[in-house]
Amino acid sequence: MKMVVQGEARLTGEVEISSSKNAVLPVLAATLLTEEKVVLRKVPFIEDVKVIKFLLKELGVEVKEDKKDLNIIGQARYNHPPYEMVKKIRASFLLMGPVLATKGLVRVSLPGGCAIGTRPIDLHLKGFKALGAQFTFSGGDIIARVNKLKGTHIYLDFPSVGATENIMMAAALASGTTYIENAALEPEIVDLANFINSMGGKISGAGTNIIRIEGVKELKGTEYSCIPDRIEAGTFMLAAAATGGDVLINNVIPEHVKAITAKLIETGVEVEERGSQIRVKGQKKINPVYIKTMPYPGFPTDMQAQFMAYLSCADGSSIITESVFENRFMHVQELMRMGASIKIEGKTAIIKGVSKLHGTEVIATDLRAGAALLIAGMMAQGSTTVTNSYHINRGYENVVEKLRALGADIKEV
Ligand code: UD1
Repeated sequence: MKMVVQGEARLTGEVEISSSKNAVLPVLAATLLTEEKVVLRKVPFIEDVKVIKFLLKELGVEVKEDKKDLNIIGQARYNHPPYEMVKKIRASFLLMGPVLATKGLVRVSLPGGCAIGTRPIDLHLKGFKALGAQFTFSGGDIIARVNKLKGTHIYLDFPSVGATENIMMAAALASGTTYIENAALEPEIVDLANFINSMGGKISGAGTNIIRIEGVKELKGTEYSCIPDRIEAGTFMLAAAATGGDVLINNVIPEHVKAITAKLIETGVEVEERGSQIRVKGQKKINPVYIKTMPYPGFPTDMQAQFMAYLSCADGSSIITESVFENRFMHVQELMRMGASIKIEGKTAIIKGVSKLHGTEVIATDLRAGAALLIAGMMAQGSTTVTNSYHINRGYENVVEKLRALGADIKEV
């Protein structure tokens, strides 16, 4: 699959943001915590969701689709999700917490996902161990067992999003109370806590760095819709800014994209917040800026590549430091093939603005790198072909249709 985009676009009009990929994936895993029916509303049609749906079915759960709603019934009957699917996305590892909590035994392969660093899972395992689980390793799989998970204090060395989620899910059915200290603060953590609480869970403090999870005997069915996707919203904000466009973004929580808004304003863009809408008006001249990616509420690593594409045509030199992942500059090579002038020194990229990018064939190495190349393609002179575009479909719902509705000349072939 590849996407072909014509350059010198100017995006105008309105776009509707879908539910958050990174909220929906853990929430789908957490449906395993109840025997009863869960109805999830407005679930995005993206590849990563398909993979988790498939894995839930493989575990013996009934998953019925009703337009954009999912009806999910039953807990895991099996405890070994198949490797061919697990390796596709790192979020499959989020099945470990709920299956361990309900079955006392789980076997999962080491996770896959984007090629953006080693992405260890030591913090997830540290959490499960503190809750009483024991591990063995066999044939690339981790096998975890426990009689009954017991509440405890867990300090995370880094506020990992996935570890916070996995531990929260496991602890929701543990005996006693668990405290996660130095927990991740991301809005998706709060959404997962709200979801578990809507099933009768007792979680407080989500969104702060100490989360308290009082274990309950069982959780009940519920109906839930996840928060809007702040990274999809951010990507459209960048696409609007980079094309000197004027776009109204609907279904966004402005507070969730504050770091992106702040940086865009520094570059000279007009950003107007109106309730659940944000209007972004791009300008011809892009001021260079300094960015350092950080855990929430800092600047999101998932927006680093898109911002770099935009800054490649700034009026001066910008600096981006990636502090969350160790190898997240795979897009740099591709942007340089389009004429960008970027130098990497360790975790820092120095982006010297050029007057124009030029369309060519480039490779999407991961999801957000792919989004960045689409933005670069719309800014460039001529036509850009982004190969391996399946990475983009992993996380952006109907991205081609949405961009076309804003006036972009783009197709997937
Ligand atoms: C989630 C998001 C991803 C985003 C990332 C950081 C999902 C499905 N994915 O990924 O889009 O880029 O948060 O905002 O929600 N780490 C360890 N040990 C661990 C776990 C993580 O050292 O056990 C390290 C990682 O290697 C990385 C950093 O912590 O350097 C952040 O990872 P983490 O917050 O766990 O990200 P994910 O949950 O994988």
